[in-house]
Amino acid sequence: MVNNGTEIPIMLIQRSRTFRFRIRNSQLTAMALKRVASSAIRALGSSSAGSDSSITLTRSLHASAGGKKIVGVFYKANEYASLNPNFLGSAERALGIREWLESQGHEYIVTDDKEGPNCELEKHIPDLHVLITTPFHPAYVTAERIKKAKNLQLLLTAGIGSDHVDLKAAAAAGLTVAEVTGSNVVSVAEDELMRILILVRNFVPGHQQVIKGEWNVAGIAHRAYDLEGKTVGTVGAGRIGKLLLQRLKPFNCNLLYHDRLKMDPELETQTGAKFEEDLDGMLAKCDVVVINMPLTEKTRYSRLEIYVIISVSNE
Ligand SMILES: NC(=O)c1ccc[n+]([C@@H]2O[C@H](COP(=O)([O-])OP(=O)(O)OC[C@H]3O[C@@H](n4cnc5c(N)ncnc54)[C@H](O)[C@@H]3O)[C@@H](O)[C@H]2O)c1
Repeated sequence: MVNNGTEIPIMLIQRSRTFRFRIRNSQLTAMALKRVASSAIRALGSSSAGSDSSITLTRSLHASAGGKKIVGVFYKANEYASLNPNFLGSAERALGIREWLESQGHEYIVTDDKEGPNCELEKHIPDLHVLITTPFHPAYVTAERIKKAKNLQLLLTAGIGSDHVDLKAAAAAGLTVAEVTGSNVVSVAEDELMRILILVRNFVPGHQQVIKGEWNVAGIAHRAYDLEGKTVGTVGAGRIGKLLLQRLKPFNCNLLYHDRLKMDPELETQTGAKFEEDLDGMLAKCDVVVINMPLTEKTRYSRLEIYVIISVSNE
């Protein structure tokens, strides 16, 4: 996963205030995560972490002077860990920040065991200062866990999306919730394009036929379509939504987007995507809908789920 950007911004959210700072990066995304995690922890450990970090942390940083207890929750890569030295998001590699953290006097505990009252994570909740996790194997941070975590200061997602955190409870406790804005966006946009093609072209049943040694063209062709000429809408045209629209442009689709913000006119012209202020109106026009917005209280259980179900049941 190569990140071509020169800067990786990190977004910190606290008590509904958001601020970002950037670090220079031109390396692998996993390396960027490592550097951002380091920056966030360094910023948290300092009362003057830079010009942008002027917010006051409600839970005093001085309450626990010296080394912090940092817990990382990542999936186990097992036999795959050794196959790629840059597999930093696994429990085995632990973002590659162990050496640095320990040299700074911090304690770094890493586990994949995150569910249930007797899990490893639960044992550390009462005295951890920082919890790092990823969207792929998220440590769910409930109001109950926040209540127990008396020393907790920073909840860091090594990726994007903080829907595993009870944000209201985190804000009420004065915690900083941070995520690595921009990470994996190319991977997600490419993955979305792949899924659109796989679904529209009815690829999977054909693949299964081949594996079973069958060949029934009609069984596939009756539901296989060209993407060209279809109307594709993205709900949310932030970083991923824009990358997807750029990638869809050569397929000659009708491109629509709904967002609370309009895109830069230059990008609108470049992609040919039309802004749809009314979400219901846009959904009714689409052959394909892609959701590219954060999961929050506002977006959860929205009309979108209903539309997705309808579009599936009507084929
Ligand atoms: N699992 C992963 O690896 C991974 C990686 C990247 C992103 N994601 C998910 O994709 C989401 C989007 O990522 P992104 O990088 O494009 O984020 P982004 O912040 O760049 O874009 C989100 C867009 O959604 C819009 N939006 C938010 N709430 C809205 C609302 N209620 N109505 C209309 N528009 C709204 C915003 O204005 C913004 O343009 C993330 O929040 C995350 O959940 C997952």
